[in-house]
Amino acid sequence: MTRTKLLAGNWKMHKTPDETEAFVRRFLPLLFPRVDVEVALLPSFPSLDRTGRLLAGTAVSLGAQDLYSEPFGAFTGEVSAEMLRACGCRYVLVGHSERRALFREDDPLVNRKLKAALAGEIIPILCVGETLTERREKRTEERVLTQLAGALIGVHAESLSSLVVAYEPVWAIGTGEASSPEEAQAVVHRIREWFDALHSRTVANRVRLLYGGSVTPANADSFLREPDVDGALVGGASLVPESFARIVAACPKAA
Ligand code: PGA
Repeated sequence: MTRTKLLAGNWKMHKTPDETEAFVRRFLPLLFPRVDVEVALLPSFPSLDRTGRLLAGTAVSLGAQDLYSEPFGAFTGEVSAEMLRACGCRYVLVGHSERRALFREDDPLVNRKLKAALAGEIIPILCVGETLTERREKRTEERVLTQLAGALIGVHAESLSSLVVAYEPVWAIGTGEASSPEEAQAVVHRIREWFDALHSRTVANRVRLLYGGSVTPANADSFLREPDVDGALVGGASLVPESFARIVAACPKAA
């Protein structure tokens, strides 16, 4: 089963629309066409519409970093799946650890957001991962599977195959201390087994599992070579066109 690798750049709260446009104009010519790799840029909300127009007709996809769980209404400051879709978004992050920690998003809210994304025909990139304390207490698997189960309550089986799950150990995000490729492989393999046991082999084979947390041009290929790692969610190293393009180029060719 070949799964198209996904390399997604999570820009967090960086880059104005003008800076985003400058990035895109420099980045696109650096990419060599690859049918086995999909690249996605996830800029902040104000840059989405312009970036969507710039990326239209290119091989690079657009994604957002968050959405709200309701389709419309009196929710000052929030953004719906339909709005993201209208900007050209194919993906949206759900449950990133910064949202969970800084904005108190819990599993039930992540679950509602994930369903809102699916209802709006946007592919959720569900983020899961353990903190340093949980890792030290050897609770990584328990934590990750609890987040996974909580986020997917009531999600229809037919929606699961298109899902993307990003395993991002919280202690590895923005710290320069990536997980080891072996550890990342062990956790994502466990996630795939979970889909196999609770859903089906088909879903387990199709769902794409990414690693995220201090991925750089220097270490990307060691993660992307692991059999269950279907891509990477890249923060800091995706902010510079040459750096993100090197990560894309590091992606091993599909067998
Ligand atoms: P990082 O961020 O690559 O800067 O560690 C990853 C993320 O938060 O998605």
